[in-house]
Amino acid sequence: MARDHAVSADVERAAALLRAGGLVAFPTETVYGLGADATNVSAIRRIFAVKGRPHHHPLILHVASTDALDRWGSGVRAEARELAGAFWPGPLTLVVRRSALVPDEVTGGRDTVGLRMPAHRTAIALLKLFGGAVAAPSANRFGKVSPTTADHVRADLGSDVDLILDGGPSAIGVESTIIELIDEPVLLRPGGLAIARIEELLGRAVRRDVAGVSRAPGMLESHYAPRCRIEIVETSSATARREALAAEGLAVDVWRPGPDDRRTAHELYRELRAADDNGLDVLLAVLPEEQGLGAAVADRLRKAAGPRAVDE
Ligand code: TXA
Ligand code: MG
Repeated sequence: MARDHAVSADVERAAALLRAGGLVAFPTETVYGLGADATNVSAIRRIFAVKGRPHHHPLILHVASTDALDRWGSGVRAEARELAGAFWPGPLTLVVRRSALVPDEVTGGRDTVGLRMPAHRTAIALLKLFGGAVAAPSANRFGKVSPTTADHVRADLGSDVDLILDGGPSAIGVESTIIELIDEPVLLRPGGLAIARIEELLGRAVRRDVAGVSRAPGMLESHYAPRCRIEIVETSSATARREALAAEGLAVDVWRPGPDDRRTAHELYRELRAADDNGLDVLLAVLPEEQGLGAAVADRLRKAAGPRAVDE
């Protein structure tokens, strides 16, 4: 394969930094990740410190091939292999039992681990060159909107990260879909891969995890939130609510999903950031239909509208 020299010098530096216990922000097709060597406990601790993230929130391991399922997972079920075979590289995280190689610090002491092979050539080049697994949450401070460009990462984390690899805007723009495959398949987070596609491949329904907080800590708290307040509204009441808030002297705008769910997902985080940049006090959001990527968009908007995390 021909090598892109402009990219590869940076990727080589990034791999060397990971080996030395550094933190590297890197692009993926979903959002940018804040990466560290998954087996380096002090580097992992630094991720939590930089993000301001509670220690019991587990990190996803990013890997370069489906073989990694058996390296970092153990007793991996056939359905997990089928899903990885069909959708990796791609926006799907599989939660399986962890192997002894995965440190407690990565999983918050759980006996499971989230694994994902991203579909981004810079990410894959980095993972291949590094050779191990890269533990990475989204490269934003805890509770804030995930970054979909290198500039977003720079604005959020600045010099707290040793290197930011710029791979252009993330193609999908919302985080991966997370499926737990310990017993029956359970959806822990809707994301960049439509649930219908997973159900079609498995030939059965994926259970929605209504008590999500017990399985994926932090999932019910406010995540993905801009500074301004988000309120969910019905289409029919959006205008009246906007006028009422404007009459109180608040800077208010209405967010509506576009006709195309992929495009809506792609633009979502950029638009939430723009709401802050434009000095809005309140953004009224009309939820999309929960089809395709609409499920992920509705999930993020609901969380952004929910009670804010304690650190804010
Ligand atoms: O698209 C993505 O998944 C991005 C990119 C960078 O890959 N990453 C990402 O990571 O969104 P993060 O840390 O922001 O969100 C991962 C979510 C967390 O809510 C965490 O609780 C859940 O995945 N998670 C990770 N490992 C888990 C496990 N073993 N069991 C249950 N939930 C897990
Ligand atoms: Mg995140």
